[in-house]
Amino acid sequence: MQTDDEKTAFLEATSASLAAGTFLKITLGKYRGDGEMCKCVATRVAIKDLPHVRFVTSRGRQDLTLNKRSTEAVAHLAALIGTDYLSATLFTTVEDMSLVYSKKKIGQLTRGRPTLNEAPPIEHNRQKAYLVDTHAPYLAELGVTQAGGVVKPSMYAKFRQICRFVEILDQLLAASSLKEAPSPRIVDVGAGKGYLTFALHEHLSKRLHKAPVTRGIDANAGLATACAAIATKTRMTGLTFEATLADAQAPSAFDVLIALHACDTATDDAIALGIKGDAAIIVVAPCCQHEVAPQLETRHGPLAGMLKFGLMKQRHADLVTDAVRALLLEAAGYEVRIIEFISDEHTSKNLMIAAVRSDTVDRKSAAAQLEHLTTFAGLKQQKLRALLGGSDKQ
Ligand SMILES: C[S@@+](CC[C@H](N)C(=O)[O-])C[C@H]1O[C@@H](n2cnc3c(N)ncnc32)[C@H](O)[C@@H]1O
Repeated sequence: MQTDDEKTAFLEATSASLAAGTFLKITLGKYRGDGEMCKCVATRVAIKDLPHVRFVTSRGRQDLTLNKRSTEAVAHLAALIGTDYLSATLFTTVEDMSLVYSKKKIGQLTRGRPTLNEAPPIEHNRQKAYLVDTHAPYLAELGVTQAGGVVKPSMYAKFRQICRFVEILDQLLAASSLKEAPSPRIVDVGAGKGYLTFALHEHLSKRLHKAPVTRGIDANAGLATACAAIATKTRMTGLTFEATLADAQAPSAFDVLIALHACDTATDDAIALGIKGDAAIIVVAPCCQHEVAPQLETRHGPLAGMLKFGLMKQRHADLVTDAVRALLLEAAGYEVRIIEFISDEHTSKNLMIAAVRSDTVDRKSAAAQLEHLTTFAGLKQQKLRALLGGSDKQ
């Protein structure tokens, strides 16, 4: 590849990451321009609700700040890279990319795993992410935003959660067989007030230009009715809500299963529904894991000194429960990632199991690990395992 090709690839990756909301920052180094040595860092900011890139150039003790809209930002970078600065590193949530020029100004591009995985909060606080439009009518109806598309201060944490969720789903969709699907079918188990259901449906239709068919289901009839009324009022075609239980669902094929903070074993009902429905993506954030703790052997064995403390026993039970779920998903042919959904300063229920169907998973090894884990933990019964037809130990 020639030098210009390397630079073009770097700038294209920058543009793409800004558009997809995966951009974290760019650092520029090896300064060869006029004047004193300096370095430059570019990050995302929102100014008057519009996405911008902020360039901060540090020279000695002085910082010079320049804000540019995204397209201008890429042109600005094009002017700096390979001339004033001979090294540039792009950090995104999916990969890092470095472009370094030799003395003869030959550029070399390298890619690597992401070293940063969560964007710092965007400054100017009014629009926290590019993937969620704060002017969307459903956000006002749900009480997240007020006039002018401004997030209510009391709803910042919820809005951050919505943004993070959409960002994660956006990345999973892009990496899955659903990337090109014109009309993905989504089921959200325990949709609650519908914040995440509405946000995902809107993202698929408005951002990704698909025609999603989304069903939110919840045991609470009042919530399902209220969400259905908002979907009608905001004319979100293809989005419906029903009052029903997760385990009352007839088997049917669909593409994406989500269950976020669905209580206790409703998460198991949801995962089973997803696996049996042959979903390409299954995303759950478990909570209130009550099934496993009473089964743990606390009086004997190497963990007795830890499990005699109630809080530690519950946390251990939560981890065992979710590891069993993750291994059952792997054994069913899903590639599983365990990620932090939202910062644990907001809730300790922040572990997310993100599973994407794949042909390359070592299902046998997952099944063997599952066997070891359940034996070690002394687990006799686990709902997902039973639902999938696995033997519960006697
Ligand atoms: C903590 S809320 C989570 C709401 C939403 N998913 C979110 O993360 O914002 C849990 C919801 O799950 C619902 N739920 C609990 N068990 C359920 C079950 N077995 N079937 C369907 N919904 C259930 C509850 O009614 C409640 O609305």
